[in-house]
Amino acid sequence: MLRDLFDRNREWSVTRKQEEPGYFARLATRQAPEYFWIGCSDSRVPANVITGLDPGEVFVHRNVANVVHSSDMNLLSALEFAIDALGIRQVIVCGHYGCAGVRAATEEIVHELADHWIEPIRRLARQYAIDLACAGSAAARRDRLAEFNVIEGVRRVAETPIIRRAWARGDDVAIHGLIYGIEDGLLRDLDCTIRRNHPAGEGPGG
Ligand code: CO
Repeated sequence: MLRDLFDRNREWSVTRKQEEPGYFARLATRQAPEYFWIGCSDSRVPANVITGLDPGEVFVHRNVANVVHSSDMNLLSALEFAIDALGIRQVIVCGHYGCAGVRAATEEIVHELADHWIEPIRRLARQYAIDLACAGSAAARRDRLAEFNVIEGVRRVAETPIIRRAWARGDDVAIHGLIYGIEDGLLRDLDCTIRRNHPAGEGPGG
């Protein structure tokens, strides 16, 4: 059943070794990625591929609708390792347009467990109801909500003790909010970056 995967893997491995002898030996010794990526699990949004980064260049955490839950041990463990062990200074929260998780948060359909997961997005939809009402179509409203979800994620990452500690010891960690367009393959900066010395309690966008 997995023959296709193994075939592709062998082919990829051979090609990489031809392109750069010693490639795997180099990667095996250490990883020193510049970026920590928090993105959506959607198969169309693979961090390495859409950023053109090679293995070893981006440390990745993905979940449904790139939600940042303050108590998500998975995300927090990855964040802590990224900041404290790998010394990463660029944290990216990346959402995407056409996100099914964001869409689910706008529907009245019961999704069981996933409803708990996307509850923060429902909250954002209520919080920004007036802004969202200005969007032209239901799809535009969902895409705007996806942007709000990224901005909220950036804020929440900035509020974690992991990031607070890093800033307190002088590390110039920056948290960026990006959104990816599945329709054009382009990343956009939502200009909601939070850096060290950011006024306490003041979120991006005022
Ligand atoms: Co998604």
